[in-house]
Amino acid sequence: MNRTIIITGGAGFIGSHVVRNFVNKYPEYHIINLDALTYAGNLENLRDIEEKPNYTFVKEDITDAAAMIRVFEQYQPDGVIHLAAESHVDRSIADPTAFVMTNVIGTMNLLNAARAIWEGQFEGKRFHHVSTDEVYGALGDTGLFTEETAYDPHSPYSASKASSDHFVRAYHDTYGLPIVLTNCSNNYGPNHFPEKLIPLCIHNILTNQPLPIYGDGKYTRDWLYVVDHAVAIDLVFHEGKNGGSYNVGGFNEWQNIDLVKELCKQVDEKLGRPTGTAEALITFVKDRPGHDLRYAIDANKINKELGWYPSVTFEEGLSKTIDWFLDNQEWLDNVTSGDYQKYYEEQYKEVKK
Ligand code: NAD
Ligand code: DAU
Repeated sequence: MNRTIIITGGAGFIGSHVVRNFVNKYPEYHIINLDALTYAGNLENLRDIEEKPNYTFVKEDITDAAAMIRVFEQYQPDGVIHLAAESHVDRSIADPTAFVMTNVIGTMNLLNAARAIWEGQFEGKRFHHVSTDEVYGALGDTGLFTEETAYDPHSPYSASKASSDHFVRAYHDTYGLPIVLTNCSNNYGPNHFPEKLIPLCIHNILTNQPLPIYGDGKYTRDWLYVVDHAVAIDLVFHEGKNGGSYNVGGFNEWQNIDLVKELCKQVDEKLGRPTGTAEALITFVKDRPGHDLRYAIDANKINKELGWYPSVTFEEGLSKTIDWFLDNQEWLDNVTSGDYQKYYEEQYKEVKK
């Protein structure tokens, strides 16, 4: 094995696709999946690769500074791809503390551990921080986020991610730590945790529950199939400029209400039911506080510099996603039992069945 890479958050939604891609594509790399297995982490996501000789799982919490030093000393990674985070905006509104602990302090602990073992030997080393377009705030009806857009986070989640981005850049500027960042738009696809809009609606359609649309449903997001994000991370990790950041997006904007209607249509078709069956479940509910109107990414830098472009159209991606959830109802049942029920009842208490 000629390289050891720690991928944090590898048991989560995007992390599991990144881990799978690296384990399969680079048999000569040793991939360490470091994850605390919070409610969002699920080793079921990686059953197909867990026996591979170049894969190791380490259960640790990135908020534990001493544990991070220990793991880095033990495995001596050449690279870090950092995805571990508290990732859901609504949970950050209900309780911001875990977001500061994991997203800010946890990121700093990883930066300190990398710095401690790489000090004076930065050649061939790389810390890739995976971030979000939400750090840029909200757009009006026009315009796109570029890498130069000023940070303007509005939710506790995006504020914590913005803070972590600043720390990553500060460690580069101050200590010379070799870093790259990616700021991506909304992902969707297999293994997406059903607290987020698309998998939540798929789960609710399958269990005949209301589809809660915040506010007037005119909020806009730019959706990217998760496997294309994993490909972008691979490219930037290997070929991105030291100290650089790259926006990643789907060139694919949808208003929430149109997206959910399209989802309803496709699920009805796949289940062989009359069109309109799922749509009848749409229910407008109280808006998310501080709800950002529109996100849209200008992904021309990564396209021009590294040749990346989404490979999956939204039509294909949504169809594959629905098929995956229909074929993996046991996965969905497992992640929606227990604590999920408590979260759901609290978050959606105004929605009557
Ligand atoms: P997720 O919530 O599905 O998974 C997060 C993973 O991190 C889980 O496996 C969890 O167990 C782990 N984790 C959480 N706290 C931890 C801790 N303290 N120590 C160790 N592990 C911990 O998240 P996701 O949607 O896959 O997002 C992954 C990353 O990508 C995040 O950094 C997120 O900000 C970023 N991102 C997500 C999206 C998106 O649309 N989901 C878009 C852009 C960027
Ligand atoms: O833009 C990237 C970000 O995308 C990531 O950084 C976050 O980790 C990820 O969670 C996602 O954030 P959003 O808040 O955009 O995703 P979510 O799926 O929660 O919501 C998408 C849109 O749908 C948003 O406008 C809020 C709305 N929504 C969401 C839920 C859960 C609803 O109308 N009803 C809902 O029940």
